[in-house]
Amino acid sequence: MSARPKSVNSTLPFVLVNMAMTADGKIATANRAVSSFGSARDHEHLLELRATADAVMAGARTVSAAPINLGPGPARFRRQRLKNGLAEYHLRVIVSGSGLVNPQAEIFKHRFSPIIIITTKRASPVKLNQLRAVATAVKVFGNRNINLRAALSWLHRKWGVKRLLCEGGGELNAALFQAGLVHELHLTICPKIIGGREAPTIADGRGFRRLAKAALLQIKSFERIGDEVFAVFHKQGKPG
Ligand SMILES: NC(=O)c1ccc[n+]([C@@H]2O[C@H](COP(=O)([O-])OP(=O)(O)OC[C@H]3O[C@@H](n4cnc5c(N)ncnc54)[C@H](OP(=O)(O)O)[C@@H]3O)[C@@H](O)[C@H]2O)c1
Repeated sequence: MSARPKSVNSTLPFVLVNMAMTADGKIATANRAVSSFGSARDHEHLLELRATADAVMAGARTVSAAPINLGPGPARFRRQRLKNGLAEYHLRVIVSGSGLVNPQAEIFKHRFSPIIIITTKRASPVKLNQLRAVATAVKVFGNRNINLRAALSWLHRKWGVKRLLCEGGGELNAALFQAGLVHELHLTICPKIIGGREAPTIADGRGFRRLAKAALLQIKSFERIGDEVFAVFHKQGKPG
């Protein structure tokens, strides 16, 4: 495990997106029932990345769909964090425009680090109160859609988040790419085809309408381990 890489000198965190996808570009089955198909090495890679981050973020459906806690995993990763001058546990951030996050979700059963929910004015006062009962902080950014730039700036300023790891799903990733906030994409390509036109991909949402507007990436590294390909892409141009 390497020392913590640099973050950008900015009022925004350096944002990494880490995803595993099938050879046909899907991150889950169409019914969202299956989303875990990577190898043990891929899981290790996820934990290695978490060990470099101040916060790990995921969309509401990802947190609700699977019994995940977004935590640092085994003690050796926490020791690595401390060695690199980080807090033993990273923050956890959930994004939900409607505030319809299941308060019974697995993540709320693990209290080792703050859980921050980012939402919009669409979340009703009742919903906000329910979320405040299970989360450390609930913060509203935007009317219908979350203003992710403002939210990330707040995470940087208020919570000291310099490196933010986003673990999907496709809806949240798309919003981050659309806002030009992603600096690095870690992609594990797994040798499976699951198909399904409704199956999510690494970036869904409305998508870019014109190629000229697409998020442009440069390949940084590309490695085959076993039957999987581990690729890392950089954002092209100046970080913002
Ligand atoms: N293979 C992998 O590496 C991987 C990784 C992660 C997830 N997954 C899988 O992917 C699936 C989930 O992906 P998904 O694309 O359906 O959902 P998602 O991105 O996890 O969550 C979508 C929700 O996040 C909220 N959201 C995202 N961007 C927003 C914005 N800009 N403003 C307001 N709200 C925003 C919305 O919540 P509200 O509806 O509450 O407004 C939206 O419905 C699951 O099956 C999961 O297990 C796979």
